[in-house]
Amino acid sequence: MHWSNAEVVLTFGVMSTPDHRISTTERQMSTTVLVVGTGGSGLRAAIELAEAGIDVLALGKRPKMDTHTSLAAGGINAALATMDPDDSWQQHAADTLQESYLLANPRTVEIVTSGAARGIEDLERYGMPFAREADGRISLRFFGAHTYRRTAFAGDYTGLEIQRTLINRAAQLQIPILDSVYVTRILVNDDGAVFGAYGFDIENGTRYLIHADAVILAAGGHNRIWRRTSSRRDENTGDSFRLAVDAGGRLRDPELVQFHPSGILEPENAAGSLVSEAARGEGGILRNGLGERFMGNYDPQRLELSTRDRVALACYTEIKQGRGTPNGGVWLDVSHLPRQTIMTRLPRVYQTMLELQMLDITKDPIEIAPTAHYSMGGVWVRPEDHSTDVPGLYAIGEASSGLHGANRLGGNSLIELLVFGRIVGQAAAAYSAGLSAQKRSSDAVARARAEIADLLSTDGPENVRALQRDIRNTMTEHAGVVRDEAGLRTGLAELDAIEARMADIGVHPDIAGYQDLAHAFDLKSAALAARATLLAALERRETRGCHNRSDYPDLDPALQVNLVWSPSTGVVREPIPEIPAAIATLMRDDISVAGKLVE
Ligand code: FUM
Repeated sequence: MHWSNAEVVLTFGVMSTPDHRISTTERQMSTTVLVVGTGGSGLRAAIELAEAGIDVLALGKRPKMDTHTSLAAGGINAALATMDPDDSWQQHAADTLQESYLLANPRTVEIVTSGAARGIEDLERYGMPFAREADGRISLRFFGAHTYRRTAFAGDYTGLEIQRTLINRAAQLQIPILDSVYVTRILVNDDGAVFGAYGFDIENGTRYLIHADAVILAAGGHNRIWRRTSSRRDENTGDSFRLAVDAGGRLRDPELVQFHPSGILEPENAAGSLVSEAARGEGGILRNGLGERFMGNYDPQRLELSTRDRVALACYTEIKQGRGTPNGGVWLDVSHLPRQTIMTRLPRVYQTMLELQMLDITKDPIEIAPTAHYSMGGVWVRPEDHSTDVPGLYAIGEASSGLHGANRLGGNSLIELLVFGRIVGQAAAAYSAGLSAQKRSSDAVARARAEIADLLSTDGPENVRALQRDIRNTMTEHAGVVRDEAGLRTGLAELDAIEARMADIGVHPDIAGYQDLAHAFDLKSAALAARATLLAALERRETRGCHNRSDYPDLDPALQVNLVWSPSTGVVREPIPEIPAAIATLMRDDISVAGKLVE
């Protein structure tokens, strides 16, 4: 793999803090396609490009082995029909559309479900160690609200194994990956088209000016802006949203955030970490603080394998109505399962609970509560190729939107990144091939340089980490599992106050690195993502899927639309194309898209 780069030292003047000299080095590079984010979707797109012989460079702000994909646990969906022969991709599409509460884009759903088997084949070709039946068939497990077993897995380390597999393939192809580069701006020329990105190295402050024909945004969603989240520190802070919007893009359905039913409560610094849905898929039972199995009151047919939004709301309701555990959770119990099942099918849950709480899940139940898990909305993209409003800019994975609507089926996000990684890689390559020249803008580069320099010159009393925490508190109090108009408006007022304080921040890199600068950009992203979320949540005056409005407890058919936001347009309704008849006939007619808020 070849890409050019040159190193220059810029004269930003003398920049230093009392105990630390600020780096003034800028490294310049060029590549055909730049991928921002090194989780599964970014790597899969990069692999597609490299396999086609196209120059590609991938950047991440976290080590590639430690991206969010590696936390995905329970599995990846494809209607392989290895366990239930009647399954089909059309049924997978019907389930996905139905459980999206009709907000998923039918074209996006068709592309993912019909391409899913190919996505699994790609992974097998790269060496993915899927769990198999004795005769060699890929094993499939049940995940909530699927008509058939169609979730392939590797224990409950599926995401980790996928990430390892993709990293190995990327290494074979010699794809250059920079693991600690924070992208601060997508560079856009005077015609509004992309020509690269700007950023800095979190470890040593070196700036990066990267010229590229196309940029693929694969930098995740925004669930880290809630207090209890299945993300780790410093990821999913809304970076993709801010980068796309600053470049001229829009966001679709930012209010649709999946709260996973089972996040752990303790210890404090790991609160929200996931107990995989695989635990319920393998037969785990939910009980309230009184010891009652409660899912029968919420979804008598599907019980613990109901949709995530229903299970999360059921847990929330039990806790809110005073039937929770003393710590404000409910119990998830797998201790009745054979020890062998737990050790082979839920090894990560077993290890994690021992490590974090010294709890043996073969003997005792786990205390859990809903946790912010996944951005089902994201950057506005076209279904066919995930191009955005900005020529040359693509978004993929959790950064993008269209597949999940108001409730994501567990296991659909991992298959999405495989399917769209291939498609977006090809689309970005074709876009680059169609350019006769790469038009740049020195003003755009100057603005990106100045933005970093300005932040590094701040010395105000406000602390960026504390402001991030304040945003998390605001979102948790006012835009959690259940919302209402008054709370959302209070949330906006609090956000205004936080943004006012952001004018007085102090950013202080030190000998250890430029984490403080990264946090300052994370803060900007979190503020933008929070505003978009609150505004769209206000506008969605209904209860649908994950979005529960206590003041509008019913579903409103007029709101069977996507909500698209940008700072200049505000929230705008976007119609959703019709579901093809062949898929619609496979959807159960008890669609349960009626409002269902129990409070
Ligand atoms: O519970 C889980 O294993 C999560 C899977 C997913 O979000 O797809």
